[in-house]
Amino acid sequence: MRKITLTQFLIEEQRHKGVIQGDLRLLVEVVARACKAISIAIGKGGITGMLGSATTENIQGEVQKKLDVISNEILLETNEWGGHLAAMASEEMDHPYIIPHRYPKGEYLLLFDPLDGSSNIDVNVSVGTIFSVLNCPENIGAVEEHHFLQAGAKQVCAGYAVYGPTTLLVLTLGNGVSCFTLDREVGSFVLTQRDMRIPEETREFSINASNMRHWEPPVKRYVDELLAGKTGPRGKDFNMRWVASMVADVHRIMTRGGIFMYPRDAREPDKPGKLRLMYEANPMSMIVEQAGGASTDGNQRILDIQPEQLHQRVAVFLGSKNEVERVTSYHR
Ligand code: AHG
Ligand code: MN
Ligand code: MN
Repeated sequence: MRKITLTQFLIEEQRHKGVIQGDLRLLVEVVARACKAISIAIGKGGITGMLGSATTENIQGEVQKKLDVISNEILLETNEWGGHLAAMASEEMDHPYIIPHRYPKGEYLLLFDPLDGSSNIDVNVSVGTIFSVLNCPENIGAVEEHHFLQAGAKQVCAGYAVYGPTTLLVLTLGNGVSCFTLDREVGSFVLTQRDMRIPEETREFSINASNMRHWEPPVKRYVDELLAGKTGPRGKDFNMRWVASMVADVHRIMTRGGIFMYPRDAREPDKPGKLRLMYEANPMSMIVEQAGGASTDGNQRILDIQPEQLHQRVAVFLGSKNEVERVTSYHR
C-alpha cells in the first residue's frame, strides 16, 4: 500500500480539492516540523537534563517545566521566518509574539499550548501540543492582542500532537479530521486514519473526580447517574479514565468515544474552569465537532463563545454527542 505523507496530503487538499491556500499548507507543515522537534526533545528526557521545572511561572501562575519553555521556543523559532504568520500567542507567553519586521508578515494568527499535560513529563506519561489557526483581520496595521479575540467557529485549522508510544498529529482543515503517525526513521508524518468519527454512544467518561465536592449540581447529578451504573437511571455501567493530559484524554475519545469534562467548580469561583479557551478548548472543540462529536461549556457551544481575553478559561464538556447533550441539558 502506498503511504501518503502529510506533505502529499496537504498538496492534494490544495491542488485538487481547493480546500486550502499555499500559505496554510506551509503553516501546517512548519507546525508539524516543530512537533517533530518537540517529540525529539521530550524523547531524550533525563539524558539531556530536561526533566523537571524551570525557575519561571507563566501568566496563569503555574510553574513552567523546562520542556514547556523549550517547546514554546521551538514553535516560535520554526514559525517566525516563513512569511505565513502575522503573530503567535501561547499559553507560555503573557502577550502575543508579533512577527519581527525583518521577516515578511503573513495572513494567519497561530495560537498554541506548546506542551499540554506537562505535569506528566516527569512520570513519563503522554503529553502533547495543541494549536489553533485564525485569519488575521485585514487592513489593521500592527497586530494587537484584541485581533486574536475571535470565536472558535472562525478557526481555519486546528490540531494536536500526542507524544505517546507513537507520535501522532491529528488535524482538521474544516472538512473532517485526519490522523498522521510519525515515522521516526524517515522523519515524516504518514496518514494513518482519514475521516475520524467519534461514536455517538459511549460507556466511558473522563473527569478529575478528586474535585467532586467542588462541582456544581448539574455535573454532580450527571456523574452520580453514571456511577450508579446498571441499577441507576442510565441502566448501564460506565468506565472511567483520567490521564490528566487533555490531548491524551481527547485522543482516546477520538478513537473509541467517551466524554471529557473539566467543569467550573467552587475552588476558584471567579475562574470558569481550568482549561484555556483560545488554545485548548477551541481547537479541541473544532476537532471534536469535525469528527461528529459535540462540545459545550455546559450552557453553549464552545465555538460560539466570543473571547474577551487571550488567556481566559472555560468549562469544557466534549466528546460523544449524546452524552455532551445530556450533561448540557442538566445545566438548563
Ligand atoms: P497544561 O499542562 O498545558 O497546563 O494543561 C494541563 C491541563 C490538561 O491537559 C488536563 O486535562 C488538566 O490540566 C489536568 O488537570 P488536573 O491536574 O486538575 O487533573
Ligand atoms: Mn494544556
Ligand atoms: Mn501547556
